[in-house]
Amino acid sequence: MILQPIIKLLALTLIWWSSVNVEYAVAATRDTRVINSGCSPINATNTGSFFANVNETFSELRGEIRNQSRHFGTSLKSKGDVNTYTMFQCRNYLSRNDCLACINTASTQIRDICKIANGARVIYNDCFLRYESERFYQQTNEIGGGVTCGNKSTNATGFRAVGQQALLDLQKATPKIKGFYAATKTQVAGGSANIYAIAQCVETASQQKCLDCMQVGYNNLQSCLPSTDGSAYDAGCFMRFSTTPFFADNQTINIRPYLKEGGSSKKWAIIGGVVGGVVLLLVLFACRLFTKQKRVPKADILGATELRGPVNYKYTDLKAATKNFSVENKLGEGGFGAVYKGTLKNGKVVAVKKLVLGKSSKMEDDFEGEVKLISNVHHRNLVRLLGCCSKGQERILVYEYMANSSLDKFLFGDKKGSLNWKQRYDIILGTARGLAYLHEEFHVSIIHRDIKTGNILLDDDLQPKIADFGLARLLPRDRSHLSTKFAGTLGYTAPEYAMQGQLSEKADTYSYGIVVLEIISGQKSTNVKIDDEGREYLLQRAWKLYERGMQLELVDKDIDPNEYDAEEVKKIIEIALLCTQASAATRPTMSELVVLLKSKSLVEQLRPTMPVFVEAKMMNGEGISDNPSNATLSISVLSAR
Ligand SMILES: *[C@@H]1O[C@H](CO)[C@@H](O)[C@H](O)[C@H]1NC(C)=O
Ligand SMILES: *[C@@H]1O[C@H](CO)[C@@H](O)[C@H](O)[C@H]1NC(C)=O
Ligand SMILES: *[C@@H]1O[C@H](CO)[C@@H](O)[C@H](O)[C@H]1NC(C)=O
Ligand SMILES: *[C@@H]1O[C@H](CO)[C@@H](O)[C@H](O)[C@H]1NC(C)=O
Ligand SMILES: *[C@@H]1O[C@H](CO)[C@@H](O)[C@H](O)[C@H]1NC(C)=O
Ligand SMILES: *[C@@H]1O[C@H](CO)[C@@H](O)[C@H](O)[C@H]1NC(C)=O
Repeated sequence: MILQPIIKLLALTLIWWSSVNVEYAVAATRDTRVINSGCSPINATNTGSFFANVNETFSELRGEIRNQSRHFGTSLKSKGDVNTYTMFQCRNYLSRNDCLACINTASTQIRDICKIANGARVIYNDCFLRYESERFYQQTNEIGGGVTCGNKSTNATGFRAVGQQALLDLQKATPKIKGFYAATKTQVAGGSANIYAIAQCVETASQQKCLDCMQVGYNNLQSCLPSTDGSAYDAGCFMRFSTTPFFADNQTINIRPYLKEGGSSKKWAIIGGVVGGVVLLLVLFACRLFTKQKRVPKADILGATELRGPVNYKYTDLKAATKNFSVENKLGEGGFGAVYKGTLKNGKVVAVKKLVLGKSSKMEDDFEGEVKLISNVHHRNLVRLLGCCSKGQERILVYEYMANSSLDKFLFGDKKGSLNWKQRYDIILGTARGLAYLHEEFHVSIIHRDIKTGNILLDDDLQPKIADFGLARLLPRDRSHLSTKFAGTLGYTAPEYAMQGQLSEKADTYSYGIVVLEIISGQKSTNVKIDDEGREYLLQRAWKLYERGMQLELVDKDIDPNEYDAEEVKKIIEIALLCTQASAATRPTMSELVVLLKSKSLVEQLRPTMPVFVEAKMMNGEGISDNPSNATLSISVLSAR
């Protein structure tokens, strides 16, 4: 009696298995691991109506899969005045039954995960499902997604380069393909491996939004290589690669026709730079519409939905969150104003930055546009901007909060000496990646202008996240130049920028080089060492030691010598010196630096030439002053000799 149901179940299971096997010789088991999920922290106001709606949308969408073999769908149901918006998408390689199975799993798990929240999403490799009480169909990467990398990697030669190209091609082609889906199989030279990869956007996205989303996805995903697997997800798109087939060879799509007129990513970067102004205007225009339409729902202060654009926070809420901007909540004072720790009503901890920008009518227009732009920058090595608030003259930015504070505390402050070599190397590499993204991968090239250890925050895993990018763009033009005060920090600023106001990405490269030397030595760039040879700054010392082949003397005595490979440290010091060369043109770009940092040794031709260092004093008549506003700046360039 009792056995019968079990046997039935077994039989059903077998049938299911075998049907899968017949249809998909390549991927016998479908992957049901949740890659990412998220719940709104707000409970539905009228759970009865809301979840009755949810159930109806689910069954409507299931019907569409079953009857019409749909791979994408949205559904809106309203009861009383409660709306429920739902969206699902299956990857196009799935059969109808597999798609249905994935959505069935999703609709069960999403309830277990999110209970009675008024918004929820669950993402798998094969499909995703999301519902909200607000419309979200056009969202792609307003708040950014993430990436999951496999834990196995391959040493097949050329794997990384082939993988990068395959993903880049997908990124470029997918937005141009009807239905926004592509799947490719690429052979690694010598046939040592095949890379199966797909990309997909939600069909409600525009082509441009799909491309924006793909660019973030590509950037996140290519950093997985040489892992053999990776998945990048976002509100509006998905990308995945694996050396293990997850679709059949005859399910690939020929994307070559879509790559023809495209142009390389370099070209994109150049175009991005040239038309940056135009893009900015468009963004401003978009922001106008955005604010005019008051599309920002009130619930946002509570973080209603994670996946949403820059939030317009209410001043009163931020005031409450920071206990009226109290001293005890103050985290520090940066170049643009004070930063406070804030706890929002929903318990989320954020960093609240009160900007000091001075009066400027241009500012009014620029502010929200810039915020929109900056909040679209997503990279794991860049601090995320969550939203903003304008009230009267006040301009406030709200960022994700980093509990470990900034790198300078670990190098020169109360946590001095606590970073080991591996951690320092990760910070050096991660910072380079973040900057490379800002310079070359985001659609508008952003020069940071103020790279220093105080602007590099560390997350819980001591991975670096660059803060304050994009803010220098908010400075009125005259203030961003030396004539009054340039947007940099003495000791880190490239000489051509400090002296002539010549600004390029290479100014960031210079500052980055200084930061690397500080990370390796545990010494401040502006600390002067006085010996019989005279006054000497860190960069000058580094150069002298390098010339004599004694550069290991620079290494922080707090690092255990057994921990690092001397050749590797020498190489990185050499890289830092390449960054600080007097001629901006000879300094590497940040993406070249990422490659150099990861390569085994430097190429012989890449010998750094002599650096220069900017010595600056604030003179206010009586001597050196810390107050820049009523002082004149005296700057001189010191060569290393
Ligand atoms: C949501 O409801 C759950 C109980 O189902 C409760 O524990 C939780 O505190 C509620 N959250 C909010 C933000 O009201
Ligand atoms: C929705 O469906 C689930 C599962 O079928 C069920 O447990 C729940 O009671 C339904 N909710 C409403 C409001 O109908
Ligand atoms: C799907 O087909 C079934 C029966 O074949 C029908 O009852 C149902 O209304 C159809 N659903 C949709 C969404 O077309
Ligand atoms: C790698 O991931 C698999 C499952 O994804 C897990 O079973 C395995 O333990 C992981 N291995 C390591 C070394 O983390
Ligand atoms: C890759 O690694 C395996 C062991 O993990 C080794 O046997 C093989 O020779 C390596 N191949 C190359 C090209 O380095
Ligand atoms: C693709 O290949 C599978 C076998 O792997 C076969 O069953 C299927 O019919 C093929 N589909 C097409 C469209 O050729």
